[in-house]
Amino acid sequence: MTENRLPLDALFDAAKKVRDHAHAPYSKFRVGAALHTNTGRLFTGCNVENAAAGSGLCAEASAVAAMVAAGERQIRDILICADCIHPVLPCGNCLQIIREFTHGPVQVYGADLVSIKVHHTLDSLLPHSFGAHHLAD
Ligand code: THU
Repeated sequence: MTENRLPLDALFDAAKKVRDHAHAPYSKFRVGAALHTNTGRLFTGCNVENAAAGSGLCAEASAVAAMVAAGERQIRDILICADCIHPVLPCGNCLQIIREFTHGPVQVYGADLVSIKVHHTLDSLLPHSFGAHHLAD
């Protein structure tokens, strides 16, 4: 039953499921991402590639866009799921996109199709990051 599942299990299941919708005809590398907001809502995204290579969207960016479009602004944790022996963590650009919507520590999980393999904090992956506070200085 959904309400009895651990939040992390829900995150893993959602990221794995949305990965099936990835549009990755060029790299063939499907990625799914799922995040929880601080309010407990769950949002998902997949990578969306484009024939014009630079116009593609990562799964994490797509999940963050879905969150923002729903009126949410604070990420609690995010899980990335890919079929890879090296657990996938957000690229540099996506770390900065996630960082924009942090309010306290953010947990970042990397999973393959079976289970979660790695766990980091956003701060450990993107220390000393640029943020809105710099603009206010
Ligand atoms: N990709 C993601 O969606 N997230 C990541 O964290 C790493 C890479 C996508 C981008 C591209 O569509 C494909 O994976 C291969 O780089």
